[in-house]
Amino acid sequence: MSITSHLSRTLTAKEIFDLVHQDLLRVEEEFRLESVASEDAVTKIAAHLQQSGGKRMRPTLVLLTSKLFPGRNPAASVQLAAVVELIHTATLIHDDVIDEAETRRGDASTNAIWGNQTSVLAGDWLYMQAFQIALRLRDFHLLDLLISLTQKMVEGELLQARLIGRMVEPHEYVELVDRKTASLFSACARLGAIAGNATEEEERRLGHFAWNLGMAFQLIDDILDFTATEEVLGKPVGSDLREGKMTLPLLAALENATSAERDAVSQVLEDRDYSRVPFARILEIVDSREGILHARQTAERYTAEANLLIAQFPESPAQRALQSIPDFIVQREF
Ligand code: IPE
Ligand code: IPE
Ligand code: MG
Ligand code: MG
Repeated sequence: MSITSHLSRTLTAKEIFDLVHQDLLRVEEEFRLESVASEDAVTKIAAHLQQSGGKRMRPTLVLLTSKLFPGRNPAASVQLAAVVELIHTATLIHDDVIDEAETRRGDASTNAIWGNQTSVLAGDWLYMQAFQIALRLRDFHLLDLLISLTQKMVEGELLQARLIGRMVEPHEYVELVDRKTASLFSACARLGAIAGNATEEEERRLGHFAWNLGMAFQLIDDILDFTATEEVLGKPVGSDLREGKMTLPLLAALENATSAERDAVSQVLEDRDYSRVPFARILEIVDSREGILHARQTAERYTAEANLLIAQFPESPAQRALQSIPDFIVQREF
């Protein structure tokens, strides 16, 4: 193998993980220490979610993007990686309350164990703790980014609530995914750039790169909601339609569907369960009407854009790892 082809090859998930393994251990420790509250419930809820798994995609993005820059502050990158996992955890807790979810990360959801009230307050506490940690870096630009991000994500949940139970226009779906998922991915890369002491232009480009990753990530999440199994996914499948959420695989399938097929979907949307129309029937419609294919192709358009953006950065182990993330996202099974 020539040197160039060796350098340009993409990394496996394990190689990516190895690159950030030590730092991720520090992030875990930071998360654990920083999620201790004087009320036991908060500490226990944070520990419950930390222990039940999770891919740590967002901290990995902060760490890898910061590693692109020789002038980085390693301590700041670990702190900011913990900040994004705290924010992510808070959004999952709130999301599960809103969605009335019973399972998360293969375990009982927070609301299933502690109830809605305690869960909402614990989520609030974790958000604020994320800001406390960020505040220590004394950087207004950073705080501005995190506050705008959090508002955008909350607006995403509100938009989702407004769209529940009805057919959604493609532009509404894109806006929703932008707010609820891509904005956090984008912020992760920007935080990595900030910890790396990158230029504003580099921060902007990395933000754009990760925004595309986030769009693809949510599209795959929406596909997996149809195609995965609960054991692999760690959360029930078929949940989106049961919760009244029309996602792209279904929206695209309906474009090609017969009126009987459209009626079947409307039926579940109305019933909010699969008692009259089984999930297998919906899956068959989504698959045979090429909804899965369309959503996958759309995800691949976002990852292609991400690939172009990351290719503009100088070659390094971190840059190669980041080049592998788009493929990793579209190929993931959970
Ligand atoms: C779940 O995110 C919420 C979405 C944006 C789809 P992840 O799939 O990254 O959840 P964990 O952290 O790995 O559990
Ligand atoms: C993810 O939306 C948005 C969040 C910011 C939590 P989903 O509702 O699709 O997430 P899951 O499927 O419950 O993880
Ligand atoms: Mg949910
Ligand atoms: Mg989902």
